[in-house]
Amino acid sequence: MTPEIRALFPISERLIYFNHAAISPPPITSIRAVEAQLKDVHENGSINFRDWLAVKEQGRALLANLLGARPEQVAFMRNTSDALSTVANGLNWRSGDNIVTFRGEFPSNIYPWLRVRDAFGVEVRMCEERGDRIDFAELSSLIDHNTRVVAISHVQFASGFRIDLERLGYVARQHDALFVVDVIQALGVVPTDVEAELIDVAAGAGHKWLMVPEGVGYLYLSDRARERIHPTLVGWVSVPNPDDYRNFEQGWNHGALAWETGTAPTALIHGFKASVELLTRFGVRNIANYLEELTDDLCERLKGKRYELVSSRAPGEKSQIVSIRHVDRLSPMALYHQLKAKNIITAPRNNVLRISPHFYNTPKEVEDFINALP
Ligand SMILES: Cc1ncc(COP(=O)(O)O)c(C=O)c1O
Repeated sequence: MTPEIRALFPISERLIYFNHAAISPPPITSIRAVEAQLKDVHENGSINFRDWLAVKEQGRALLANLLGARPEQVAFMRNTSDALSTVANGLNWRSGDNIVTFRGEFPSNIYPWLRVRDAFGVEVRMCEERGDRIDFAELSSLIDHNTRVVAISHVQFASGFRIDLERLGYVARQHDALFVVDVIQALGVVPTDVEAELIDVAAGAGHKWLMVPEGVGYLYLSDRARERIHPTLVGWVSVPNPDDYRNFEQGWNHGALAWETGTAPTALIHGFKASVELLTRFGVRNIANYLEELTDDLCERLKGKRYELVSSRAPGEKSQIVSIRHVDRLSPMALYHQLKAKNIITAPRNNVLRISPHFYNTPKEVEDFINALP
């Protein structure tokens, strides 16, 4: 972490900001990219729109690189919920099918499955939470030959628990189920490889760990997933030649590109490209290592304090999200407000206080946070 990087985040002069699992402040380079595109359209209207499309494709290539995917396997969406919903709605459900997920999932990875349950009579099997962890054996025991989808987050939004994707992906593949992963709490700060981890669908959005202005989501579809999921949200951009306004029989775009429907949030995508470029330049592996050190330090310093560490810190299960509980029952909301009064931003989630630093945060901020804990 260099002073140059920190200077890209002026928020760090005023606040100890530990809430990147909710919304990240975009770096100044990203804000400038958004402003520049808006200024361009303000001054020139549509004249430079080919350049904007090029930026979108550069953003797509950067995103694909983070995932270990090919660019045409990745579509820009509005958000994670849209991405997961369109997957759920695009499968041909048969009676007897089931979906396996986890009860602690963020609702965007629950409601789309409940909707198809109600519409098609399929079964949704939810693995229960055990001591703020997912029990791998229990989760995988729910998967059988009628399982069409295994839907899970790479990193849990409340506990920070990280699941072994490769291991779970293997079980899903053995049962010929699609492995659907909400990667929003991991992509950009946890190395991800859709091929090695046998991921069929990855969904997320940019405003958390990718540090992108809100409003840009994405969907990755493996070739195997693309064969099974029909595009259910389509428009003039979903075809190979969108400029041909008369040929309605072109068929859909290959890969995930069919899921892009119409005009994109062009200014935001300029910000997306700039933010992801920064993370890529720094290196996801380096960021992951840095955040592991920072959060290890945080957990070490918590020892002897009147706080219970909720997040598993076991190798392979820990992540850049650390959640804690006050042992004397100060509520997460009370903790949040007391810390906020000291210019420290965290998040109350369910019955925990969530702490989520990013790569521009420093060990000194961790120390100050620990000293400020009520
Ligand atoms: C695991 C997880 N998935 C999804 C979301 C957000 O979904 P969306 O992009 O639809 O707003 C969040 C947080 O807001 C989250 O923590």
